[in-house]
Amino acid sequence: MKIDVQVKALFLFVLVTLILPTSTIYGHGDKRPMKKGILLVAFGSTIPEAQVSFENIENSVKKTFPGVEVYWSYTSRIIIKKMAKQGKHLATPEEGLAKMMQENFTHVAVQSLHTIPGAEFHGMHKNVHKFAGMSKGLRSVLVGYPLMASSEDVQRVAETIIKVIPKERKKKEGVVLMGHGTHHPANVYYAALNYHLQRMDPNIFVGTVEGWPEIGEIKADLKKRKIKKVYLMPFMSVAGDHARNDMASPEEDSWKSILEKEGIKCVVVLKGTAEYPEFVDIWVDHLRTAFEHFD
Ligand code: CO
Repeated sequence: MKIDVQVKALFLFVLVTLILPTSTIYGHGDKRPMKKGILLVAFGSTIPEAQVSFENIENSVKKTFPGVEVYWSYTSRIIIKKMAKQGKHLATPEEGLAKMMQENFTHVAVQSLHTIPGAEFHGMHKNVHKFAGMSKGLRSVLVGYPLMASSEDVQRVAETIIKVIPKERKKKEGVVLMGHGTHHPANVYYAALNYHLQRMDPNIFVGTVEGWPEIGEIKADLKKRKIKKVYLMPFMSVAGDHARNDMASPEEDSWKSILEKEGIKCVVVLKGTAEYPEFVDIWVDHLRTAFEHFD
């Protein structure tokens, strides 16, 4: 008898939950029409030339999602501070979402323009989800993955790198890409990328400034393969401070100087990945996946 009452109560509960209109679940009825928006999240850059990368992404996103408003935000606190000193205000993802909340957006797809799901991505991911389900706020916040987030992405990125290498490069010449690198476990993506590239073309190498593999290891590999000339390319969305200083400058500890000291001729290509439509397509595909999953 007692069990029977419990079963009846459970049945009633399920029934009430199922037939309650969704508007009742949203408190006093969220009658606002669905308004979808896009928030792009980049690391940021202090270099004016980086604007080319950002504009390239924005144009592609707007073309893919006509009529959808696109907002920008940045995760690097250092860059935000530096730009503030120059009188330029860059929004954080949290500020971007707060603004979109005020503008009555109900559904926002947040697209990470990072290269790997490292510390910047995970920090952002954690915070932006807190914006979903607030009273008078956003109903849904979905996040699009960075450039490399699956094995398929790594393979696609490797193929894309091969496509964008300057045509004049000969097979026996090397290509050295400078990734950022991180202490975060996601640093393994660079090693995975290196693996794919090496299988397709053993004279292409990816190293990092702040992680592993390091330039010392790549230098040893280049010498082992008796490579006399390399193309130096950044593997970062923007050819910013790292590309210009740590990779290409005449300073003693730049990658260019380190390799030239070994008698390896360097041809510098100062172009960020976001300047190539082939890479931008990968980010946009990730955004499309997020955008298609709104409920
Ligand atoms: Co850095």
